[in-house]
Amino acid sequence: MARHFISIKKLSEEPYSGILGYPKSTKRQINSRISELEKLQIKSISFTGPTTIGKLEILGKGYVGIVVLAKRKSKYVALKIRRLDSQRTEMKNEAKLLKLVNSVNVGPKLFDHSKNFVVMEYLDGEKIGKWINSLKGRGRSKKLKSTIKDILQDCFKLDQIGFDHGELSSISKHVIIGEKKCAIIDFESSSTKRRPSNVTSITQAIFIGSGIGKQVQKIYKIPSKEKIIGALRIYKQNQSQESFDNLLKVLKL
Ligand SMILES: Nc1ncnc2c1ncn2[C@@H]1O[C@H](COP(=O)(O)OP(=O)(O)O)[C@@H](O)[C@H]1O
Ligand SMILES: [Mg+2]
Repeated sequence: MARHFISIKKLSEEPYSGILGYPKSTKRQINSRISELEKLQIKSISFTGPTTIGKLEILGKGYVGIVVLAKRKSKYVALKIRRLDSQRTEMKNEAKLLKLVNSVNVGPKLFDHSKNFVVMEYLDGEKIGKWINSLKGRGRSKKLKSTIKDILQDCFKLDQIGFDHGELSSISKHVIIGEKKCAIIDFESSSTKRRPSNVTSITQAIFIGSGIGKQVQKIYKIPSKEKIIGALRIYKQNQSQESFDNLLKVLKL
């Protein structure tokens, strides 16, 4: 796919300003955001991706941010732009949390941040639901199992550092699976003050929830709900390597 990049100077013009200052902004806010991007060494932006706002394509949209593909030092990065109607007044906390999970090699790599932006590794992939649907042919069960195992291991690492993602029950929005790498995203609602329940939440979302669970079941026979809940209960009581390994065994991973 040819990617057309637009210089950040052009972002003050319609329709681009509608993304930089989503959903509504003043000229002043747009200009201030453009100089913020200059400081972050973001040179240009490409409007490509699976989601659209008006006529422009973007990588994704949430309640806090709009994410677009950008170029920084000639490398592709994902740029999360703070929505002007977001509950958050700045991106600092999210960047701090992302940096923390990066310390155990989880999440997209954080490159930089400012008041209104987070610059991070671009994950070229798909949301888990779509990805599972696209699995075909022999070996798909093996591929699915190893990916789920990778995701669970990331969750275990987060549990181990006392970090709770907070939104893993909606797994379809928060895991991106690419050719080389799969990653948990969006640490916006995370906390280091709650008791972590990453492994538990994601296991429930993958194996017990109705959406992804049904898709997984079509590819490999998953154990009974009772068995899974039993293993999760043991894990909840003691989040040790041993009880995590037991969970993987029960899940046939
Ligand atoms: N690093 C990334 N690489 C590619 N796409 C991303 C990346 N981060 C986020 N996205 C896309 O942007 C969407 C919104 O990002 P997210 O961080 O969930 O925003 P919010 O905090 O507003 O919910 C995601 O669902 C995903 O599709
Ligand atoms: Mg989100």
